[in-house]
Amino acid sequence: MRFLLVFTLLGLSLAPAAANPVRPETLGSAAAIEAAVDRLLARMTLKEKIGQLHFPSLAFPHEPQIEAVRRGEIGAMLNVVDPRYIKAFAAAARESRLGIPMLYAIDAIYALKITFPPPLAWAATWRPDLAELAAYDVAREARALGVNWTFAPMVDVSRDPRWGRVIEGAGEDAFLASAFSAARVKGYRRGGLATSVKHFVGYGAPEGGRDYTGTEISTPELLDRYLPPFKAALDAGSETVMASFNTINGVPVTMNRALVTDLLKKRLGFDGFVTSDFVAIGELVAHGVARDLEEASVLAFKAGIDFDMASGGYDLYLARAVADGRIKVGAIDDAVRRVLRVKYRLGLFDQTEADFANLPRPVDDAAVRRSAREVARESFVMLKNDKAALPLTAATGRIALIGSSADSAQHDHSWWGPSGHQKPETETLRAALEHRMRPGQTLEYAPAFADPCGREFKDKDAAIAVAKRADVVVYNVIEDCEIQGEGVSRTKLGLSGQQKTMLDALAQTGKPIVLVVETGRPLVLAEASQQADAILIAWHPGTEGRTALAEVLTGEVAPSGKLPMTFPRAEGQIPMSYNVLPTGRPWTGSRYTTGYVDEKQTPLYPFGHGLTYTTFAYDKIVLSEPKMPVKGTIDVDVTVRNTGSRAGAEVVQLYTRQLVASRSRPVKELRAFEKITLKPGEARTVRFRLKAQDLGFHNDAGRFLVEAAPYTVMAGGSSDTALLADFVVTRD
Ligand code: GLC
Repeated sequence: MRFLLVFTLLGLSLAPAAANPVRPETLGSAAAIEAAVDRLLARMTLKEKIGQLHFPSLAFPHEPQIEAVRRGEIGAMLNVVDPRYIKAFAAAARESRLGIPMLYAIDAIYALKITFPPPLAWAATWRPDLAELAAYDVAREARALGVNWTFAPMVDVSRDPRWGRVIEGAGEDAFLASAFSAARVKGYRRGGLATSVKHFVGYGAPEGGRDYTGTEISTPELLDRYLPPFKAALDAGSETVMASFNTINGVPVTMNRALVTDLLKKRLGFDGFVTSDFVAIGELVAHGVARDLEEASVLAFKAGIDFDMASGGYDLYLARAVADGRIKVGAIDDAVRRVLRVKYRLGLFDQTEADFANLPRPVDDAAVRRSAREVARESFVMLKNDKAALPLTAATGRIALIGSSADSAQHDHSWWGPSGHQKPETETLRAALEHRMRPGQTLEYAPAFADPCGREFKDKDAAIAVAKRADVVVYNVIEDCEIQGEGVSRTKLGLSGQQKTMLDALAQTGKPIVLVVETGRPLVLAEASQQADAILIAWHPGTEGRTALAEVLTGEVAPSGKLPMTFPRAEGQIPMSYNVLPTGRPWTGSRYTTGYVDEKQTPLYPFGHGLTYTTFAYDKIVLSEPKMPVKGTIDVDVTVRNTGSRAGAEVVQLYTRQLVASRSRPVKELRAFEKITLKPGEARTVRFRLKAQDLGFHNDAGRFLVEAAPYTVMAGGSSDTALLADFVVTRD
């Protein structure tokens, strides 16, 4: 008789987020802020209240908007990064009847002045502290312009690399995504920006991987896979939340009161404000749930969307909806209270003209570059390295560098960050490698292509000739050098343009091939993995990243990244992740088990995978106890040894599985990780503390359950774990 004590910790797993800490520079206490908000609110006209609940589209010229600010009809702006305009808007706000300060928002995510690698690469470092540092530096650059609100972090969990926006997140796992969500919120906030954790919720599960399509998400999936990184962001103090474009089970989130008000504001206790996504309120008409913008605006507002991003609906119609009773003034007041609360918490009411006098403020470029270099170094993932093709040592005489991307100074391939920024000096991979050639080593470069994307050949034969003269070929390919991220969904994830043809030709030369892949998502590299001796995922390395890439290729720095997302063998395997349910017929290779007849069941490279220039052995796993009560803990000691000839970093990963439960549970779930560095021959025992409460899950009724049951704990350097041990959670 198996004990299944169902603990209905109703909602305890989603206990209200810690109230946003009041910033020391403001009124000093939450109560003082609430009192100030109430006093201000009592003085506001309806028009002034509605003025706090929207910003206009990106329309220029700004002059009419500055006048609207002076009349108290606008309280925020998007993409104003010219300090002269920020000063003008700020002056207009000060001169308005109530002097309510402005929010200035941009997508300060990873590429403002210095371009960092994208957030998916931050996750590949498996070092949330680096993500915090990167976010802090990006925020500092934005704050120096006068910006004070960023539409970041994006924390959408996704198992679907067809969806281009995986570049902005932290991959397929809720636990890893939560760690990076909290770190990024802390970093952006420490850099002086209010954050907007996005896109609430489930946006990373679009049907067919096509951006903006609908999602079908069960309650347990919502609460256990997609919600945790948002809760982590709220616990870290995110002042705002951005609602997502998608429907969940047929209902657009932008009009979904159950999610925006009942779950986010009531159950999670979120006391900041919720903004729609860009013109998403107007899109309710296209969703077929509103006849026109007016009806859409009322629907969204009643759902709990406090702030209208650029649809114009709130500005045009909220006053009329109040006048005819469709919306209560009290509801308007609640939304305005949330916006004012955030502005007070940010200390905006303490600002004076002097705070805008010397914009843009200088930022220490060298420090930001150092961060960008460090993030890039630790983000690269070496997927394979047969015959020690890497690093390129002094013994590697002649090196052929093939691919026009290697000579491209293009920093950043997404449209994120304000346009028109003068991108600072960057070193191409070609230059960085040339600077690292030792005596006796030569580097010969051939672009092969006429464009940095590898679309058209410039001179394939010349590239082949260069390869034939070399001892090793470094071939730099790129997912796409023009568009990344939003609205870039793909059905084919192989090498684009002529890049695969070039690889086939290089493989014909018989030379060892090091494939360097610049990408913002997992690609399908099944054939390439047969042709290349080494594969290094470089993500989009950014302003300092190609220098970092040369450091890793030449062995100055060892690669230490691990995959935050599974690399599939074929698009047909997608959606794909490591934490799947076992099914009633786990894959055994026979026809009548879960698998494909035309493809292997396994990924090409699994979640958590990544190699370095040494090797590690997982010697043992030892539990402090063979069992723990539902409120107890167990220590798990994992001993790892460096079995190679040089120091190296390893991400020790801990996974668990509930072997028997009231619903089918994943074959493994990431519960903890630690990145350690070991000298050659060094062994170290890493201690993880497992809490039974962390092993719970939600059922269809949304109840959080921690069940007395048998479990397995597994450890390794990837989700293909090396060690395991069994334990039991008992009733008490
Ligand atoms: C977009 C994106 C969102 C972004 C917003 C403002 O369409 O979905 O992530 O923050 O517009 O640029």
